[in-house]
Amino acid sequence: MDTQTISERFRALYGQEGTLYTSPGRINLIGEHTDYNGGFVFPGAVDKAMLAAIRPNGTERVRVWAEDLGEGSEFGLQEEDKPAEQWACYVFGVCREIQKRGYSIGGFDAVFSGDVPLGAGMSSSAALESTFAYALNDLWGLGIESFELARIGQATEHNYCGVMCGIMDQFASIHGKAGHLVRLDCRSMEYEYFPFDASKYGYRLVLLNSCVKHELVGSPYNERRLSCERVASMLGRDFLRGTTLEELEAIKERLSEEDYKRARYVVGEEARVLDVCRALEEGDLERVGQRMYETHWGMSRDYEVSCQELDFLVEIAEECGVSGSRIMGGGFGGCTISLVKEELYDRFITTATERFAARYGHAPKVIPVVISDGARRL
Ligand code: GLA
Repeated sequence: MDTQTISERFRALYGQEGTLYTSPGRINLIGEHTDYNGGFVFPGAVDKAMLAAIRPNGTERVRVWAEDLGEGSEFGLQEEDKPAEQWACYVFGVCREIQKRGYSIGGFDAVFSGDVPLGAGMSSSAALESTFAYALNDLWGLGIESFELARIGQATEHNYCGVMCGIMDQFASIHGKAGHLVRLDCRSMEYEYFPFDASKYGYRLVLLNSCVKHELVGSPYNERRLSCERVASMLGRDFLRGTTLEELEAIKERLSEEDYKRARYVVGEEARVLDVCRALEEGDLERVGQRMYETHWGMSRDYEVSCQELDFLVEIAEECGVSGSRIMGGGFGGCTISLVKEELYDRFITTATERFAARYGHAPKVIPVVISDGARRL
């Protein structure tokens, strides 16, 4: 992360020093599309993050510069001041959601940049929201507790960006801890850190970015959520969480094929997350890997959020004897996450790169996973 570039840009634009804040993107070992169903997720923050320099400017206006886009935006703090630039809505939304909760902030100047790949399923937008939520809370001494900061990011997605996401990404970005995954129960909001060091067992975690841009805004993501809500309400529940396959079968006739398959995926995924946690405690990484494959094919065939490029990467992983591999995040493009034995790693990366490039004309980007800390002031 280039703190110097950001600090210099801040000085050049505003003639002052800004305070530096950062918040990371995330991986998710398993537990996809379970968060908005009140289920479990198992993410960890990574060493790819958003970085911002920020300073209150004593006015009621926000001036923010997106270094990676070479573009600025200026807006006020009231509801009618929503900026035209989509990226600026993430910052604006955070300001609004803080104020809607009864806290008072003023205008500020900011510059931000990041190395979380966009549209890769690594939560670049949550990293941006969390950076600003954390920073504004700190700069104005608001005393908002960390869970609420995550909720502010999530509400920003809902109310200003059009994505009805769950809480996983913002939660992981704020609460991440180096060397640990965190299992979050999205119904009770209880969470537990699990030390995670694949190398201890002779494995590596790696992401392969297909570079197929996933775009959750205006995507069928929201439709998936609606399917789940329809099935849950038919079962007389708030969430799909806790539903058994038998219960689902019992109402199958009253569901559309599509809703049924989506719900079936979610029910299976809930069991898989819990099994992966047990497998980790037993040091059984092969079982973790098997569950990852099951998740992938469930997401592809039942939940229908994969794409041919990602299915292809997972097939290559299977053929290479990789322990586990699956699409990661919301879907519709982005990365696979793979659990690979050390001795297979080089061969897998070479094979995946060559075969993918031969078919799609570009190589997937290899992103080694380093599990890192969550939001902080630098
Ligand atoms: C996106 C959303 C999350 C979660 C995942 C799928 O990343 O922002 O809330 O639903 O998709 O697990």
